[in-house]
Amino acid sequence: MSNALKEYLVTCQARVEKALELRLPSNTVLPQRLHDAMRYSTLDGGKRMRPMLTYSAGKALGVAPELLDGPACAVEMIHVYSLIHDDLPAMDDDDLRRGKATSHVAYDEATAILAGDALQAMAFQTLANDESMQANADTRIKMITALAKASGSQGMVGGQAIDLESVGKKLSLPELENMHIHKTGALIRVSVQLASLALPDLDPAIATKLDHYAKCIGLSFQVKDDILDEESDTATLGKTQGKDQDNDKPTYPALLGLDGAKQKAQDLHEQAVASLADFGAEADLLRDLSLYIIQRDH
Ligand code: IPE
Ligand code: IPE
Ligand code: MG
Ligand code: MG
Ligand code: MG
Repeated sequence: MSNALKEYLVTCQARVEKALELRLPSNTVLPQRLHDAMRYSTLDGGKRMRPMLTYSAGKALGVAPELLDGPACAVEMIHVYSLIHDDLPAMDDDDLRRGKATSHVAYDEATAILAGDALQAMAFQTLANDESMQANADTRIKMITALAKASGSQGMVGGQAIDLESVGKKLSLPELENMHIHKTGALIRVSVQLASLALPDLDPAIATKLDHYAKCIGLSFQVKDDILDEESDTATLGKTQGKDQDNDKPTYPALLGLDGAKQKAQDLHEQAVASLADFGAEADLLRDLSLYIIQRDH
């Protein structure tokens, strides 16, 4: 990882931690156990890649981070909700996440389901009326629509449905790509889109280029996640290694082999960087992030 990216990552992680802390209800507010569960899964953990992408795209476009705290928190809230539900016994049945017990293990299944539900609602509430965004109603509606699309049945949730339907099946490469684009790619893509939407007068051609970048890294992110599930270890990952094989999930390494999957990730990184050809140094963080996504160890 470049030094510039490392520094920025640490700054963003602290920034989003504070912004989330500020927006989540205290665990002294009723219902206390639910709020405690929401805070348990959301605070103090995770790479914060999606907020980082929102801020970095903002940097490439000249949008101040203060205006992006709301969108960054909203995507992270949706992401954390998706992780809580992904780990449930009815889905991947995992007991370790971000180095600690999953929500349904630390609390109980009903609380985990409700914590996810409430985080999802809070994401949209944030985009609708977070004052720090200084956005008008039209911008807010565009952001809410984009996040809803990326999260719902034709986005992340749709991808999760395909994932569960595909257990034990051998998917073709286009089918696997379609699953990954939805279950993981959609939320990563919208993390960048929200920064573009914060600039109502942005040249659509620039937004399209950033969107193409985001589409490539959205897919490479899940290709790398599949690779790590195979070749990393539980302590480094903070989640149980080898679960894809245990659960008989279709993955890139299963279909292409580890070398084939790594080549795919590299190709996507090159495509992502090529999409930023018209940008100067202001997009260096986005370039570094794309490389980090395929080189990370967790
Ligand atoms: C894990 O996401 C789930 C996927 C969509 C692949 P991350 O790898 O971003 O998880 P955290 O947020 O760092 O825990
Ligand atoms: C998760 O994919 C995608 C989500 C929408 C959460 P995985 O099931 O591969 O994520 P991990 O490996 O459990 O983090
Ligand atoms: Mg899953
Ligand atoms: Mg999982
Ligand atoms: Mg995985």
